[in-house]
Amino acid sequence: MKKSVKIYIAGHKGMVGSAIWRQLEAAGYDNLVGRSSKELDLKDQASVNEFFETEKPEVVIDAAARVGGILANNSYPYQFLMDNMMIQNNLIDASLRGGVEKFIFLGSSCIYPKIAPQPLKEDYLLTGPLEPTNEWYAVAKITGIKACESIRKQYGKDYVSLMPTNLYGTHDNFDLTTSHVLPAMIRKFHEAKEQGQTAVTLWGSGTPMREFLFVDDMARSVIFALENVLPEHLYNVGTGEDLTIKELAETIQKVVGHTGEIIWDRSKPDGTPRKLMDISKMHALGWKHQVQLEEGIQKTYGWFLDNIENFKEVKIG
Ligand SMILES: NC(=O)c1ccc[n+]([C@@H]2O[C@H](COP(=O)([O-])OP(=O)(O)OC[C@H]3O[C@@H](n4cnc5c(N)ncnc54)[C@H](OP(=O)(O)O)[C@@H]3O)[C@@H](O)[C@H]2O)c1
Repeated sequence: MKKSVKIYIAGHKGMVGSAIWRQLEAAGYDNLVGRSSKELDLKDQASVNEFFETEKPEVVIDAAARVGGILANNSYPYQFLMDNMMIQNNLIDASLRGGVEKFIFLGSSCIYPKIAPQPLKEDYLLTGPLEPTNEWYAVAKITGIKACESIRKQYGKDYVSLMPTNLYGTHDNFDLTTSHVLPAMIRKFHEAKEQGQTAVTLWGSGTPMREFLFVDDMARSVIFALENVLPEHLYNVGTGEDLTIKELAETIQKVVGHTGEIIWDRSKPDGTPRKLMDISKMHALGWKHQVQLEEGIQKTYGWFLDNIENFKEVKIG
């Protein structure tokens, strides 16, 4: 892949998109294009088509989406389904018609059935019911995967889908009403520490098992997919290692320096009991993560502290 290739990163201001942008720049790619949602609403097909006609990107990386945790998914099912389908449909269709040869679509591990053998293999897609708390988002993502697969099959173009496990890192979302579990815990432990080591209440029982990948590792997997023609249409991206939510909480508590009590609110839902990705296909091709969990949490907490002023106005759930 020549370094001057014109790459459009949709969602380049987001946690994942900004990490991809940074890693691409670090790798020497110097013809990157991005638009914020204010500059280009990807739900608006006419604007997306006009943008593609003007900019003519050669590669498209789709890191734009409406994302959120259990609470946000439960509260806004229509937006999680429809916004995500509109964003990805407009991008995929404009790419196909604009002659884009390489399209990298980012989904999520929630596309797999709620009850499935662990670790989750790519083959398990559409083999059982989804986790109800995020099925709207998952259905949208599944249609994106299928759109890319159908283009691959019908037009022979390199449209590939990467399914990251839970991601965390710099530029994460620390708003407790919409955030994922890991940044929410960082904020809760930090604020409890600041308030004199008060107790921290966390959702659920602490027993579900989860896997977490540092966002820069995710970005490096996108560069891997950019620089290689991956032979199949769908790949999991993760660490291949999981831990309980309780173990995660204790790791974050240690990094943050909180010494108060942890209370588990069992009236709140746990979500899927276990979610670990089978990443043997990516490993076989030569990609592997580099950042271990505690190191990644330290980096994320460092970024949180550096940017804490920006979170003051963000609602605390
Ligand atoms: N975070 C995770 O744990 C995780 C895990 C697995 C997969 N993923 C996937 O990674 C991708 C990115 O997630 P993220 O965590 O980086 O989310 P994020 O931080 O919320 O970023 C999402 C980006 O999408 C853009 N966007 C949303 N709606 C848009 C619209 N209507 N028009 C234009 N741009 C729009 C936003 O642009 P503005 O900032 O300009 O508004 C933002 O830059 C998603 O496909 C997600 O499924 C994330």
